[in-house]
Amino acid sequence: MTTKITNKYVVQRTWRPMPIIVRGEGIYLYDEDGNRFIDSSAGSSVVVNIGHGVREVVDAMYEQSKLVTFAAPHLFTNLPLQQLGQIVADRAPGSMRQNCRTWFGCTGTDAVDSAIRLARQYWLARGVVSKYVTIARWQGFHGNNVAVAGLHGHTGRRKSYYPMFQDVPHIPAAYCYRCPFELKYPECRLKCARALETMINQVGEENVAAFIAEPVVGAALGAVPAPDGYFQVIREICDRHNVLMIVDEVMTGWGRIGHWFGIEDWQTTPDIIATAKGMTSGYTPLSATIAKEEIWQAVEDTKAPFLAGHTMNQNPVSCAGAIACIGYVEKHDLIGNSVRTGAYLLQELKKMVAEFAILGDARGKGMMCGFEFVKDKETREPFDPKLKVSSRFEQECLKRGVSTFPCTGCVEGVAGDMVMVTPPLITTPAQVDEMLGLMKEALRAMQAELM
Ligand SMILES: Cc1ncc(COP(=O)(O)O)c(C=O)c1O
Repeated sequence: MTTKITNKYVVQRTWRPMPIIVRGEGIYLYDEDGNRFIDSSAGSSVVVNIGHGVREVVDAMYEQSKLVTFAAPHLFTNLPLQQLGQIVADRAPGSMRQNCRTWFGCTGTDAVDSAIRLARQYWLARGVVSKYVTIARWQGFHGNNVAVAGLHGHTGRRKSYYPMFQDVPHIPAAYCYRCPFELKYPECRLKCARALETMINQVGEENVAAFIAEPVVGAALGAVPAPDGYFQVIREICDRHNVLMIVDEVMTGWGRIGHWFGIEDWQTTPDIIATAKGMTSGYTPLSATIAKEEIWQAVEDTKAPFLAGHTMNQNPVSCAGAIACIGYVEKHDLIGNSVRTGAYLLQELKKMVAEFAILGDARGKGMMCGFEFVKDKETREPFDPKLKVSSRFEQECLKRGVSTFPCTGCVEGVAGDMVMVTPPLITTPAQVDEMLGLMKEALRAMQAELM
């Protein structure tokens, strides 16, 4: 396989030369030399839920482009935006269904930023001016601007900017494989969830506006779902202390884990949801901050606008793309496929972990799975970060025609190598076999070097 040097006038996500991708179809990407890559992470990362090259999404965006592509959001609304608001409300979880409004932005980061702003603006509207703190979790990820770097708990992605942001209190991750409390589920009685109450008490309920968490932790842990019962406990604590519950569904939304929204797996209704990625499957940028009607109503009653606007918010072409993507998920029962093929994927990943001495754990929900490298299966000791094990896996896979999403930092933010396995929701069991077959070849090569 040949690799060409990419344009020297652009800055890429890595300094390495990269293949130039010229076409995508289904779960496959093709570079300009005709090399084929299985997209095992649905883009970087967990984005292309419906797969690449779906003509009807492109057509829907083209049709809208012919009508109007931009109309100043401070003066006008547009039809795709209004339709999409209804579509989201019809699919929102629990008591949010048809009882919510949505603010549409561009990126997952701005959906999260808008969520914490909304929480603050809500408490101001209610006259509770002291509530401003958002509590988050270690080894969670919520986005990539400076403000959100203070919020998320992904050590590697926040360290360099530490003096520049306002830090927030973090509680430990819900991570059974390396339980921060060294307890076992269910005897632990979900101490990781109950830690929220301790933190609220310590910070002072009067200061805490919201708590934020991902239902399945993505980049910071490599597809670790919260244990059963976790979010029910969180909900109860939030209610008792007048704290808004925000779920970050930037990865887990839109069918990825077997529901429109991942939080449904815990039969819980949050107050605010931040979502993006799968909503448009990467065909166009769009994100959403969805909140219960009473929250928006309280803000509206103050007559002050919601102050999180960006120029490109509420774009009609992006909204048309989202409508087509959501329709495609429905028409092809991709949520059902996420459950069915996701179960097969996890089963095969567990077998793969059993087969290789350098793998310690496979986990996931629906089609959001991952696995973790270990130096020692018994003690769960991670590899030395200097060995860059997950990056090596990425390169070994790329050579064999699989694109992957490696992650690091599951061990106290400073060590630990994980890989997310989150292919498009259209993936078949046969394609899972093909993908894992190539990953195993890569693992065999690595195991020979590492052990
Ligand atoms: C859970 C979660 N929240 C927020 C974000 C930020 O989204 P974006 O990269 O679109 O800004 C990400 C990105 O990976 C994410 O995984």
